[in-house]
Amino acid sequence: MEFPFDLSPVLGDRVCVVDQHLRPAGRPGAAYRGDLEQRLRTVIDELGRASAKAQGLPAPVTSAARMETNRHVLYILRGEGRGTPKSAVIGFIKVGYKKLFLLDRSGAHIEAEPLCVLDFYIHESLQRHGYGLELFQHMLQSERVEPRRLAVDRPSEKLLAFLRKHYGLADAIPQVNNFVIFEGFFSNRPAPPRRPPPKRQEEEIKPYSLSDREFLREDQEPPWPFNLTPGRAGGSPVRGSLRPFLLRRDAPDGRTEGRTEGRTDPPLQRRARSGLNFYSRFLFWGWGQLTFLNWCLYPPTSTAPSRRAGH
Ligand code: ACO
Repeated sequence: MEFPFDLSPVLGDRVCVVDQHLRPAGRPGAAYRGDLEQRLRTVIDELGRASAKAQGLPAPVTSAARMETNRHVLYILRGEGRGTPKSAVIGFIKVGYKKLFLLDRSGAHIEAEPLCVLDFYIHESLQRHGYGLELFQHMLQSERVEPRRLAVDRPSEKLLAFLRKHYGLADAIPQVNNFVIFEGFFSNRPAPPRRPPPKRQEEEIKPYSLSDREFLREDQEPPWPFNLTPGRAGGSPVRGSLRPFLLRRDAPDGRTEGRTEGRTDPPLQRRARSGLNFYSRFLFWGWGQLTFLNWCLYPPTSTAPSRRAGH
């Protein structure tokens, strides 16, 4: 793919690495602006259009504007002799990390954030000349990743043949999304570091990752009397699986609280009864105090005569 300008100052090295800042790696910002940046935008947009056309896509998945809004990395291979003009671009590969829910061989869901191949294109006139392999190898070394650890976004037949031929990736593990992973993807994968996920990210993955914390949070009961909803004993919504444990609490001696003579009291009734015990104890204590005070002020010996005197 040829451009009407010299690509050396725009792309620099034979393989140019571009990130969301739209500046080739290693180029100082002050030296790289204006015309150069505009030319880089032109190159990226043209490559994206050509790739979409080659794959029969309705719209490009790669463009300068999309690069700016995603944390993707673009590797652009440019002509530099070897039978290609200096103003020509041979192709590109775009990669990026994505949080995915993947299935392993046993069908278990696994959350992973692998490096994904998102777009890959070699100009039609130069395909099957080894340029794709050269670019792919550069990307693997630069990203320090093994081919079997990659996820590939909806690979074309050509790309599947490419991966089979050069990297022996043939056994795909079936997924429910558009990504393809291969045998060995999960093998000896280091366990992800245990750290509390940021709140926003957790929301993104909520449908698949209802955690223990969320489960417990739902069962926290508001204080009395806010938990006394009409028509429902107890307070907070309790899921079926938890309910038996809340209704039946085993006492240390093996008895089961909340059950008397084969009857199970609803939690609300149990709470009301324990409340009554407290108040009746309080009243009994108060009555005792008053009786004692009365006995001190009017001992039985002094009150008897006066009463008799009244008769
Ligand atoms: N038909 C079948 N297999 C092909 C073809 C083809 N037309 N072209 C390349 N391959 C595979 C073959 O395994 C081939 O080996 P072979 O010639 O012995 O059969 C091997 O790739 C050649 O390797 P390279 O020369 O290093 O690869 P190339 O430079 O052709 O780049 C690429 C491979 C990027 C897939 C290129 O063919 C291309 O741009 N295709 C069109 C766009 C495309 O399909 N991109 C992938 C989209 S999916 C995605 O990006 C996530």
